[in-house]
Amino acid sequence: DSMPAEDYVSKEQWGSRIGVVLAVAGSAVGLGNFLRFPGQAAQNGGGAFLLPYFISLLVLGIPLCWAEWTMGRFSGVRGFHSAPGVFSVACRTPKARYLSVFALLIPLVIYMYYIVIEAWCLSYAWNYFTGDLMLGEDSDAYTAYFDNTVGMNTDGHVFGKGSSMLGFILITFAVNFVLIYRGVSAGIETFCKFAIPLMVVCALCVLVRVLTLPSEQVSAGLGFMWNPKPEALTDPKTWLAASGQIFFSLSVGFGVIINYSSYLGKKDDVVLSGLTACSMNEFFEVCLGGLITLPAAFIFLGASVASFGTFGLGFNALPNVFAQMPAGQLFGFLWFFMLFLAAITSSLSMLQPVIAFFEEGFALERHVSSTFLGMIALAGTFFVVYFSKGLKALDTLDFWVGTFLIFVLAMIQAVIYGWVFGIVRGEREAHVGAHLRIPHFVQLILKYVVPVYLGAIFVAFCYQNV
Ligand code: PHE
Repeated sequence: DSMPAEDYVSKEQWGSRIGVVLAVAGSAVGLGNFLRFPGQAAQNGGGAFLLPYFISLLVLGIPLCWAEWTMGRFSGVRGFHSAPGVFSVACRTPKARYLSVFALLIPLVIYMYYIVIEAWCLSYAWNYFTGDLMLGEDSDAYTAYFDNTVGMNTDGHVFGKGSSMLGFILITFAVNFVLIYRGVSAGIETFCKFAIPLMVVCALCVLVRVLTLPSEQVSAGLGFMWNPKPEALTDPKTWLAASGQIFFSLSVGFGVIINYSSYLGKKDDVVLSGLTACSMNEFFEVCLGGLITLPAAFIFLGASVASFGTFGLGFNALPNVFAQMPAGQLFGFLWFFMLFLAAITSSLSMLQPVIAFFEEGFALERHVSSTFLGMIALAGTFFVVYFSKGLKALDTLDFWVGTFLIFVLAMIQAVIYGWVFGIVRGEREAHVGAHLRIPHFVQLILKYVVPVYLGAIFVAFCYQNV
């Protein structure tokens, strides 16, 4: 056994500290924040969801995030950027690379369906822009429109009749491809540096508009989101959903952060950068996602929001709300354009781990590897689209890959960090160049609490799904 590709040295590096933080935040902030988070909260006891959610953030999310940043940079400065390389370096044995297979598979498979939803967002933004989505105050019209867009009609078309989804998928794909082709700094970093501030502006506009709707409606909506239903806390499902959401949202346990942080320099801060990226994600999720999607949907739908799936909230409920507000067309456009930006900064990060693998494993040059990967990803996307009966394939993949496998990978990473890489080395490595100290107990949490907590969740998870 030899270490992967000694003959290839990646020249990629981040351009600036703020750039890498924005790129990681861009990966984290995505559809998970604006659609998945409110959807999960609505289905799991409204405000009660937030307690297990914040516990998972503190016990699993932030510690594992630091572990990933630390191992990623450690291995990156030694010349290894792909998951097989990072795992081999962290474990000091090339055999460990076999454990990393999920860190390549998960982001690639998620990309294949994530990009489809990303294209829905682009199509909705465009159709608000042109006015096609101003269907009046007729909620059935929006449902029909959505069903047609995503191909849930049975008229024999993959997408509904007259839908231009195929075009939007190709455009979305092309934008992703160009940015990835340009590279980590020139493509991903440059784009995130402009997209994230723009997202904040768009989201704040929509937030202000939603919160200035008639006040008794707003407070009822906020009450649903923020008042705990304590019964939900005794249901293990709530705890599963909360930790799953933390992983999905922070991009932890995906193999993404170990890859991004491997392009850092020896003395770049990982502690403060990791914490900043997590905080930005939580700001978008709790303050923006939590205050827009669910309250707005509640205003229109009342307590039946709980029965709306993740996509129903964003793509059905909100257009109804926009229809009722003055200048709804503008806010509809801002909302879906913002979702599109959030999605694209995430999907970019799903391709880079695999590119790094092609570069290192096969000594392929970036332009060759990104073209090759582009072809695989496009084929996969079409596979998902054509064989999907409505949202079925999407849901199946999201469950098995986007939830189940993430737990497995997070567990593997926690054990590698705590027991093989070692918390003594981890603590020392994390603080090289750091502007902030990680409290020592976090290392103990990583070594003992995380594996036990994850193990317990995993058992409950299997138990519930068998
Ligand atoms: N964190 C992203 C979101 O919240 C999703 C994502 C998954 C990003 C996998 C990167 C890798 O939408």
